Amino acid sequence: MTRPREIGVVKPENEELPKEKFDELEQFIDGMKTTKGELIAILHKAQHIFGYIPRDVQLFVARKLGMPGAEVYGVVSFYSYFSTQPGGKHTISCCMGTACYVRGANKILEAIKEKLGIESNGVTEDGLFALKDIRCVGACGLAPVVMVDDKIYGRVKEEDIDNILNEYRK
Ligand code: FES
Repeated sequence: MTRPREIGVVKPENEELPKEKFDELEQFIDGMKTTKGELIAILHKAQHIFGYIPRDVQLFVARKLGMPGAEVYGVVSFYSYFSTQPGGKHTISCCMGTACYVRGANKILEAIKEKLGIESNGVTEDGLFALKDIRCVGACGLAPVVMVDDKIYGRVKEEDIDNILNEYRK
């Protein structure tokens, strides 16, 4: 009698995607009461752990949740917050949603671009910052909003930008 083949979860081992990170993500998923309707929360966690959500991580999540990889990819590519490419050490997300836009988000974004010498979706030469423009992050009362990684900065003025960036240059 042949033993059934074990269908394991793919855990590629290379420097960028170390096994420990998959373990951390797996623990997070296993610790959830239910994974139903939690795909976005899981992807947020994945991006937090890996810094981005490459294909191997999407497949890992898909297999853990028993859903098609294409479905996970669809969600990752729909939300501009998620990235499939390695970014900088810190991701600056400048909200360009309506509330932020009418309160001058465009000027803030332009000022950040100029200070870092990069465009949206770019990464600084030293790899310290990646810049993204994103849609509403749900903190409209604080518009205009800039996020650095998971930290939200509200009512940002152009003159605040240097201080914000310097916090991450230490
Ligand atoms: S529009 Fe920027 S937080 Fe809602």
